[in-house]
Amino acid sequence: MQVLFIGDVVGRSGRNALAGVLPGLKSQYSWDLCIANAENAAGGKGITEKVARELLDLGIDVLTMGNHTWDNKDIFNFIDSADYLVRPANYPAPVPGQGWTVVRRADKSVGIINLSGQVFMGPMECPFAAVDRILDELNHCQYIIIDFHAEATAEKLAFAHYVDGRVSAVVGTHTHIQTADAGVLPQGTLYITDVGATAPINSVLGMEIEPVIKRFTTKLPQRFSAASGPAAVCALWMDLEARLVKPLTVTSP
Ligand SMILES: [Fe+2]
Ligand SMILES: [Fe+2]
Repeated sequence: MQVLFIGDVVGRSGRNALAGVLPGLKSQYSWDLCIANAENAAGGKGITEKVARELLDLGIDVLTMGNHTWDNKDIFNFIDSADYLVRPANYPAPVPGQGWTVVRRADKSVGIINLSGQVFMGPMECPFAAVDRILDELNHCQYIIIDFHAEATAEKLAFAHYVDGRVSAVVGTHTHIQTADAGVLPQGTLYITDVGATAPINSVLGMEIEPVIKRFTTKLPQRFSAASGPAAVCALWMDLEARLVKPLTVTSP
């Protein structure tokens, strides 16, 4: 089972880069399943149904989310019918949408779970307790892939070791900068602390630079917008049986 996991797609620039880069990647690598984190896909903040459709039309099978899930209110119009979309599973129970989904590929079931960390993030159910509960429900799956959406490196690593050997892969998202630690944990789980973002290169984590500098220098609230211009696609290619990982960063043509 080969999987391409694409890091947080930011705004139109990120989406355009993905459209430009994916055909070339597909000629170099094969995959059975393509997952993308889409919490910043609509103007850097959340997602709309139109943007979700645009990503699915590129050949992406499953969209994962994070702390920006609810930033664009359009999500409330379609999340409950979007079986391809997962938001963090450790939101309180009444929240719309689903925290995991199962995809069938070649007679095998692949469970895809989205979980949020707690350190430097909004208050959430403990992801360690949540994952134990979810893995019980997904025990029929041959493969499990977790998008662990978290800020703190220590929490991401600790979580990955907690589930090592129980899931196929833990892919970190949220910090938008790809880390240089892609590999295989002792019990066989594939791991990267952060897969990086699919975002404009001249930006601060995909957003326009000046308002971010102004926020730091004045402490005043600023309106952040997705930056434009050339973008890079960050992704992790994985072979779940051969236990291979290849981190990718490809600039749009
Ligand atoms: Fe993000
Ligand atoms: Fe995030």
